[in-house]
Amino acid sequence: MGGLAVFTAIKYLVKLNTPSYLCGHFYSSTYMSTAAVIALQKRRTFGIISHPDAGKTTLTEKFLLFGGAIQTAGAVKSNRIKKAATSDFMEIEKQRGISVATSVMGFDYKDYKINILDTPGHKDFAEDTYRTLTAVDSVILVVDCVKGVEDQTRKLMEVCRMRNTPVIVFINKLDREGQDPYDLLEEIEKELNIHTRPLTWPIGIGSDFKGVYNLYEKKLNLFQPDKTKISKEVIKINDLNSEELDGIIGKRSADKLREDAELIEGVYEPFSNDLYLDGYLAPVFFGSAINNFGIQELLDTFIQIAPEPRSRFTEDREVKPEEKTFSGFIFKIHANLDPNHRDRIAFCRIVSGKFERNKFYYHTRLNKKLRFSNPTSFMANDKSVIDEAYPGDVVGLYDNGNFKIGDTLSEGENISFKGIPSFSPEIFKVLENKDPLKTKQLEKGILQLTDEGVAQLFTQQPGNVRIIGTVGELQFEVIQFRLLHEYGASCAFTPLSYQKACWFTSDDKAELDRFNVIKRYNIATDKDGRPVFFAESMWSLKMTQDTFPKINFHFTSEFDK
Ligand code: G4P
Repeated sequence: MGGLAVFTAIKYLVKLNTPSYLCGHFYSSTYMSTAAVIALQKRRTFGIISHPDAGKTTLTEKFLLFGGAIQTAGAVKSNRIKKAATSDFMEIEKQRGISVATSVMGFDYKDYKINILDTPGHKDFAEDTYRTLTAVDSVILVVDCVKGVEDQTRKLMEVCRMRNTPVIVFINKLDREGQDPYDLLEEIEKELNIHTRPLTWPIGIGSDFKGVYNLYEKKLNLFQPDKTKISKEVIKINDLNSEELDGIIGKRSADKLREDAELIEGVYEPFSNDLYLDGYLAPVFFGSAINNFGIQELLDTFIQIAPEPRSRFTEDREVKPEEKTFSGFIFKIHANLDPNHRDRIAFCRIVSGKFERNKFYYHTRLNKKLRFSNPTSFMANDKSVIDEAYPGDVVGLYDNGNFKIGDTLSEGENISFKGIPSFSPEIFKVLENKDPLKTKQLEKGILQLTDEGVAQLFTQQPGNVRIIGTVGELQFEVIQFRLLHEYGASCAFTPLSYQKACWFTSDDKAELDRFNVIKRYNIATDKDGRPVFFAESMWSLKMTQDTFPKINFHFTSEFDK
């Protein structure tokens, strides 16, 4: 085992294609120890995404069951948030307590450390999901075989495509009367703009569902509905033409499977791991999460093909995970549920090096050194203080207001990770102070809440008008509630008729000045002081773009200047 581990590490180092690795001095001063490289190679950090109700929570839970991290179903409840009615924000408050623990669910599986990052299902929290996707190395997309590709699926996939995140598709609920598998694959390819390659294939569907055939391992997994335990009847079928198959699933199903397998091998290219890693090709699995069916194949293939912790880019350079010095970025901030404790948990994804407890790290935006005495790791439903963590891991850092989403921590290098943008909000309201005696509290509260990423804050002149922009109505209720309960400030909102905000730039200074004057009533600045244009509709935005061709409009906050 030790020999194999060393061999794997050497293979890995050679793969990096840097001759200087072979030079002991350079290696030891710049790159991690062999043991640390092995530790990071064993990490798999991913997110499960789906339209609400496709089965994301169920699949997450089943992964934890298979990994032995939980013993019973029903332990992962954070996604019940999505089921709360829009007005039922108290429920969301309650759920937030649970979702701190379930924001990251780590578990060990076959020698691997797997980190699942939770993404909220409710569409009003879409921005939170988009940001979480910046911290994963790959995703598993769950599609309901009855409903096919749905709205949220499309939006989430757009975000994955922005950074070529590798995607595995799991088609769920095969125990229900769903669509034809070929139609589903075609729909996924067309609607999600990704190539697919089935690795398993269903035999029947709904009441006629008999199991799945693993096209690569040539194994037949027979379906036995069972919600509580992991049951598996796997039969090796080396030759699909054998009569044995007729005996097991019946002649009609056996003939259909033979026909399907032949067609698939004829139509699809062999699966290419490189194309998957490039985000170009998605392997597809079929199963039924609630019945623990098809999960093992998915998980076993996942650990084999899913990427190790990947490099991330700063404005100046690529930071590789095996670099010796620590770096990481904050992708999520969670407020403490207890109003007496204002501290928050900032979730830091480790990009490079080894993170160590009680060591001073450099907060690059604030130009300040910080030390963390209680960094927390999350394993299934447990939290524990950790002494060290590796690339791919997510640590929870207790924070009393130092962090905002996108912040970078390093060991001294002045870097700032890219790829954690704010997205253009779609609902806008003016924030009004209802209690002039609490002006300071309101100001502090709104700055902190927007640092957490609950919403975006814009300021319009004259008059320092505070405009809140969100992707969903629910955030306004959350803001109002939290300002009152955590900061003692009362506020009200006045709706604005804008539908889109975009950042704008231009190389033509005179044109920029002209635009700023003509459109002054539609212009504000974001929290970093960058100008933002508000459009009443997509149509008016288009008109503005046509009228001012020298102005560049940007739909996320990250753009080349
Ligand atoms: P989500 O996180 O993507 O929103 O979906 P979730 O896992 O909560 O699943 C949505 C519903 O679909 C749940 O039913 C769940 O039990 C059901 N489900 C998940 N996988 C399968 C499957 O393979 N087959 C079938 N038939 N159903 C499946 P629910 O009634 O909304 O909730 P619950 O009372 O079962 O918890």
